[in-house]
Amino acid sequence: MSHTHDRQFLEITRRQVLEAGTIVSVSGLLPVAAQAQAPSPQPTRENGATVQVSFHVNGQPSALEIDARASLLDMLRERLGLVGAKKGCDHGQCGACTVHIDGRRVASCLTLAAKVDGRDVTTIEGIGRADALHPMQQAFIDHDALQCGYCTPGQIMAAIACVKEGHASTPEEIREYMSGNICRCGAYVGIVAAIAQAAPLIERS
Ligand code: FES
Ligand code: FES
Repeated sequence: MSHTHDRQFLEITRRQVLEAGTIVSVSGLLPVAAQAQAPSPQPTRENGATVQVSFHVNGQPSALEIDARASLLDMLRERLGLVGAKKGCDHGQCGACTVHIDGRRVASCLTLAAKVDGRDVTTIEGIGRADALHPMQQAFIDHDALQCGYCTPGQIMAAIACVKEGHASTPEEIREYMSGNICRCGAYVGIVAAIAQAAPLIERS
């Protein structure tokens, strides 16, 4: 197969999979409307106590009764249908679940959902729109900074925080402060380049 045919095949395949809505490689780049799944109407009430939490997620108020032991990651994915944050290791080791609380990055798999009461949570679904991507999302596209895409939502949320923290001045610094986000596909060259491109476009906090 020629190079041209290879490209056409890849493009067709990507488009088909995108249309099928199953590809994970772009899940970090899509807006909330494209990513949100039907939220669960049932409280997570198994054997433990439940608690009420009221918070904002992506600017929208939310109030839920949750299992007191639930992680923020599970609450986002299973109760709110916000499945952009991914469950990789579920032990704070990979960064796939990174979201922001009050503008600071956290591993949502290690964060108790009950702790977000009264706080502002931002997920990948809340940072851009299809017609107005966040500069970091656009930079990841520009630098082809993903392969399977499973790590990408977490990479992008961590990358935005990395810039806002003032830790994106050099490639070495970016690598150091992004070291908690693992990419099993090894897309690190593109990720670092994307962060360097987007950094001047993002306000530091
Ligand atoms: S899933 Fe949270 S750090 Fe891996
Ligand atoms: S793009 Fe596959 S794990 Fe990062």
